[in-house]
Amino acid sequence: MIIAIDGPSGAGKSTIAKAVAKKLGFSCLDTGAMYRAVAWQALQNHVALDDAEGLGNIARTYEIDFEAAPGDPIPRRVFIGGVEVTDAIRTLEMDKAVSPVSATVSVREALVEQQRRIGNAGNYVIEGRDIGTVVFPDAELKIFMTASDEERAHRRVRQNVDRGVGSMDYDEVLADLQRRDDYDSNRAASPLRPAEDAVMFDTTGLYIEEVIVRICDMANEILKRR
Ligand code: DC
Repeated sequence: MIIAIDGPSGAGKSTIAKAVAKKLGFSCLDTGAMYRAVAWQALQNHVALDDAEGLGNIARTYEIDFEAAPGDPIPRRVFIGGVEVTDAIRTLEMDKAVSPVSATVSVREALVEQQRRIGNAGNYVIEGRDIGTVVFPDAELKIFMTASDEERAHRRVRQNVDRGVGSMDYDEVLADLQRRDDYDSNRAASPLRPAEDAVMFDTTGLYIEEVIVRICDMANEILKRR
């Protein structure tokens, strides 16, 4: 079974996807981390962010892996070409670099193929922007998560403080978040939009725990009906 969770950055997708996966005993895939890893590798290799061929080559040739720390069922560590980039892909520089990379068709084709292969191997909660619309249009449960810009910026600042990476300046984070939403929603390749059959969640002012329980209930209902 695939649970697709899409929505803009800071809507709570990552936290919720990981918690839902843990509760249901599913695996979990953060597709945004894959686009970030390709962007990181492009900067390392001095490939220009408008060089579609160069970016596509990176996405096709470098292996992206996820690993869990011992005793943790959720794979939170990210590697590209064998190099760990878990923290390196969360900086403000990477927030900016990833937009043009994720808008590049050849990159999307390569990563979507990998995402389908991974997801088809078992029960997965997969989070991203186009999971319910493009990657797994037949997913049995599709969630589209939103929250107000202000709440998303506050959450992202708190997350950056906890992780010790990224900007901790609210105004900077808010401006960057709005810039990325705009970019992700208006790009030609797989723009951010809810699938027609997605369940919409506005998480502004909601307790994350409440959302997790509701998604698990919906998933268990579907599993029971099978
Ligand atoms: O979720 P995130 O902020 O880590 O995603 C990083 C970037 O990748 C973001 O600009 C949107 C893009 N992305 C995408 O285009 N498609 C996905 N399935 C996941 C992320």
